[in-house]
Amino acid sequence: MRKILIVYHSMGGNTRAAAELVAQGAQAVEGTRVQVKEGLKAGVKDLLSCDGIAVGTPDYFSYMAGGLKDFFDRTCYPTEGHVTGKPCAIFVTHGGGGKAVQSVKKLCRRFKFKLVAPPVLIENMPKTKAAQKKLMGLGRALAKACTA
Ligand SMILES: Cc1cc2nc3c(=O)[nH]c(=O)nc-3n(C[C@H](O)[C@H](O)[C@H](O)COP(=O)(O)O)c2cc1C
Repeated sequence: MRKILIVYHSMGGNTRAAAELVAQGAQAVEGTRVQVKEGLKAGVKDLLSCDGIAVGTPDYFSYMAGGLKDFFDRTCYPTEGHVTGKPCAIFVTHGGGGKAVQSVKKLCRRFKFKLVAPPVLIENMPKTKAAQKKLMGLGRALAKACTA
C-alpha cells in the first residue's frame, strides 16, 4: 500500500478544495492511502513515513503561505538525507499571478524531492472541469510515480 501525504495551507478554502481534488486523483490509483494535512499540523513523522508528497499553497504576496513554509521550516533539517528523490507534486492557487510557485519549487529542490509533473496552477477556486481534471491528474501522477 503506497502512502501519499498532501500538505497544504488555505485561509479562504480555494487551496483546500484543490488539495481534496489532488487527494481524489491519488485515491483512484489502486493500493493508495492518502492523508491530507494542513501545513501547521503536518510534521517530520508524516514526511518520513510517506512514499510521495503533494504540497499546495495559495499565492500570498507572490510567495507561498506561511502555513506551508512552517512545514518546510520544521521538517528540513530533521529529514535531511532521508527524503532524497521522494516523489513530489506542487499545486498553487492564485488570483491572477502565481509567482509563489517559484518559492515552492525552490524549497522542493532544497529537500531534493523529485517532481513527478509540472506544478499545477489554478486561478482561485477550482470550479471548472478543466481545473478539476488537472488537479486530479496531478494526484494520479503522484500515486503512479510511487512504488507501493
Ligand atoms: C493576503 C493575500 C495575498 C495575496 N497575494 C496574491 C498575489 O500576490 N498574487 C496572486 O496571484 N494572488 C494573490 N492573492 C489571491 C490568492 O492567491 C487566491 O485567491 C488564492 O486562491 C487564495 O487561496 P485560499 O482560498 O486557499 O486562501 C492573495 C490573497 C491574499 C488573501
